[in-house]
Amino acid sequence: MKPIVCSPFQPDCLDGKVALVTGGGSGIGFEVTRQLLLHKCHAAVICGRRASFLQQAQRILQQETGARVEYRVCDVRDPEQCQAAVKFTQQQFGRLDILVNGAAGNFLAAAHQLSPKGFATVMAIDTLGTFNMSRAAFSLLAQSGDAVILNISATLQYGATHWQVHASAAKAAVDSLTRSLALEWGSYQIRVVGIAPGPIADTPGTTKLAPGIGKDNVANMVTEGIPLKRMGEAWEIGHAAVFLCTARYITGDVLVVDGGQWLYKHPM
Ligand code: HXC
Repeated sequence: MKPIVCSPFQPDCLDGKVALVTGGGSGIGFEVTRQLLLHKCHAAVICGRRASFLQQAQRILQQETGARVEYRVCDVRDPEQCQAAVKFTQQQFGRLDILVNGAAGNFLAAAHQLSPKGFATVMAIDTLGTFNMSRAAFSLLAQSGDAVILNISATLQYGATHWQVHASAAKAAVDSLTRSLALEWGSYQIRVVGIAPGPIADTPGTTKLAPGIGKDNVANMVTEGIPLKRMGEAWEIGHAAVFLCTARYITGDVLVVDGGQWLYKHPM
């Protein structure tokens, strides 16, 4: 039975905030944006590399939440494009309170077959992209007085995961950025926090990492190793995001939202 999506938060807990979400056109980034807006975030700018995805996401988010949503094509690997996205946000809305670093790239590849460029590409999107966008947004976030950077990482780097040497290294570095930036930017009233999602149903990331074996088969395979015996839903990551955006004495922490998956050990 599907759980009823009922928010445990005050419906206006993000009143007046402006958010910039990389990877906001699809998957977890889209749903995080949706939940921020459903909790009365004033406006959001969503970024990604494909205008068509962003346009569609903008339309749906605006229709559903009534908030103002703008989009900006931006490859987070390029510092200048990150600066332009922040400038655009400032021009549109005059402020920035919440930066979500959700843009990521991934594919499965055995370590001995992965080219150096393939490894570097994922590091560049996930790790450099998180740094580039955070750095570009620093000055505007520092003017907020109550700002937060939310980095989306993963749990695959906590142990080791087959065919994910690139993404594991990249996400471990993202978690490290969360801690370092929290340390340095706390005095500017910028909190830096993370969410480490487990497998989330019906997102492009999950679909991409299990090509050709079908949605139900993916769910059956992964739920075996999840104590809660189901995949997560994107809104559950969205609610964790709302919590972290309002948790004013939490910084430098990464919240695992994975149904207990990374703790799991087969009984025998
Ligand atoms: C092996 C591959 C590959 C594959 C790309 N490469 N796909 N190697 N297997 N399937 C190699 C290429 O051969 C090339 O190296 C290098 O990576 C760069 O590839 P490009 O296609 O030129 O890069 P680009 O166009 O920039 O695309 C980036 C990308 C792509 C990450 C490779 O897949 C992409 O843009 N994906 C969309 C975003 C995405 O993946 N979202 C899902 C995120 S899910 P050579 O040496 O051959 O030139 C996620 C979840 C994490 O992050 C946690 C999971 C549990």
